[in-house]
Amino acid sequence: MLIRRIKCLGYLGARYNSSHFVTTPIFYVNAAPHIGHLYSAVIADAHCRYQRLKYPERKVRLCTGTDEHGTKIQQAAALHKVPVATYCDQISERYREVFQNANILQDDFIRTTEERHKRAVAHFWRTLNSRGHIYSAAYSGWYCVSDETFLTDSQLKLDEATGARYSLESGHPVEWTEETNYMFRLSKFQDDVIHWVKQEARIRPAKFEKILLDTLSEPLPDVSVSRPSNRVHWAIPVPDDSSQTVYVWLDALVNYLSALGYPDEEYSAFWPPAQQIIGKDILKFHGIYWPAFLIAAGLQPPGQLYVHSHWTVDGQKMSKSKQNVVNPVQAAEQYTMEGLRYFLLREGVAHSDGNYSHVKALRILNSELADTLGNLLSRACAKTLNPRQIYPSAQAEHLAEILGSLDAAKRLQESLLQLSERCAQHYESNHFHLVADTAMATLHAANNFFETSRPWELKKGAAGSNEPRLETIIAMTMDALRLCGIVLQPIIPQLATRLLDKLSVPATQRGWNYLAESFANTAHHGGSRQLNEQSSAMLFQRILEENREKEERKPQPAKRSKAKKKERRETMS
Ligand code: MSP
Repeated sequence: MLIRRIKCLGYLGARYNSSHFVTTPIFYVNAAPHIGHLYSAVIADAHCRYQRLKYPERKVRLCTGTDEHGTKIQQAAALHKVPVATYCDQISERYREVFQNANILQDDFIRTTEERHKRAVAHFWRTLNSRGHIYSAAYSGWYCVSDETFLTDSQLKLDEATGARYSLESGHPVEWTEETNYMFRLSKFQDDVIHWVKQEARIRPAKFEKILLDTLSEPLPDVSVSRPSNRVHWAIPVPDDSSQTVYVWLDALVNYLSALGYPDEEYSAFWPPAQQIIGKDILKFHGIYWPAFLIAAGLQPPGQLYVHSHWTVDGQKMSKSKQNVVNPVQAAEQYTMEGLRYFLLREGVAHSDGNYSHVKALRILNSELADTLGNLLSRACAKTLNPRQIYPSAQAEHLAEILGSLDAAKRLQESLLQLSERCAQHYESNHFHLVADTAMATLHAANNFFETSRPWELKKGAAGSNEPRLETIIAMTMDALRLCGIVLQPIIPQLATRLLDKLSVPATQRGWNYLAESFANTAHHGGSRQLNEQSSAMLFQRILEENREKEERKPQPAKRSKAKKKERRETMS
């Protein structure tokens, strides 16, 4: 019956209207941000940047923020001997700073301690209550403070030696709790949630849909949605009953509504969220509680949950006790923030855990951003080859001749022709690693073309001097760089901007539709344009490992290819 009502109201459709609301989880302020947190935000940011690029008519909105109530925060503040409010201010500010440094283009940063949020939670609670979905009951069970959740016996493991119990999933300790609480009739919404989960592409990657459906194959118990105020005082009071405070997960989930101005009508312009990015550890809350709460309140559940796995460090779970928590600010000192963004999106895949390792980061950043992308730009802009410092336009007759005679040119052309469609397909599924892969394959083809076409032999004054052909080769190379720059904007926004600035690509010509304009299918911009002198052609410097620094700084002639040696000789002459 409820399902039918939902269908009638179109609750399960409405994924892609003209607005596109995207959220990250809100982050607990019990500890400073680490790369796992940044990863959730970077995925959401790259997703939104792509949406803006591809669908300029769409109203895209990205919200993030901090989750500041509950026992966990109370305890963390007490441990640091800081008043809770001050503690929340300090850590929340660190998230804000990291996201700003990482260029997360958020439209709002919500804190659950803000008045606008408390008002939204009170309204949401009253709505659930007035619809008869909340009741009071004596409740007892195992509570896990770290995960802020009650767990059933089957979700626990017992340490025989100490008698202590832990959450099977997270490994965090639990404590026995008996209290009078308000309960939410979750059991009533089981069929609705199953129906919602089963809609096409509702939960991605698909493996997480299966996990949810496994959980949903057992009867859902009702959930406690309040705690006694004398136990959890750092929380939002239950409306009309100050002896109870709102359960932190109900409080936290409502942030997605309060960030849009709920309960004021304005929220409906962006509701429901098109995509909610979450980590795998909070799947139950977003994949079961959240749609149930929303349906119970008469609101539409989200269009899609995009679930990502976790980062381990050198194969180990990140944890304070192992002292292996990677701080994004420190990581950015090593790799630059753009380098860190690139590494996270290049190396991370949503369906399984990613391994964060310094060696891997160095290898990827040096070979892809420095050697493949950066180096090609420097070579195409080198004053010796390009003394007029221009982005030339390809000359038709030379272009035809080069494409007809050089396999490397044909391969580059084919790669460019497929770039837009392939990358769009990967972006649509948040497969950022495949976008990077595709862009790097194109840049390899461009490097190969540049090397094979030996432009340094065509310089004025040299024996085989042929300026128009030289300019055509540079134009083709710069077209490849420009197109890859456009494609990579969501992943490395600052580096891509610097690249496009250097090539003097007007701000109005950086949208997705400009991927169709290159030597590969059209004469793209008429005459040649002057390169931007203010912008450096040095995009990304190789990162030297400390102990190898001295070695690497020495010239290494033996490794240079014959062609490069020749180019160097020519350009130095
Ligand atoms: N406050 C809740 C979310 C409430 S949303 C209504 C919370 N906060 S959290 O700070 O613990 O986690 C926030 C996000 O960071 C989650 O998506 C979580 O999966 C992600 N990560 C935490 N550790 C992580 C890794 N090691 N790797 C990748 N992401 C990780 O849960």
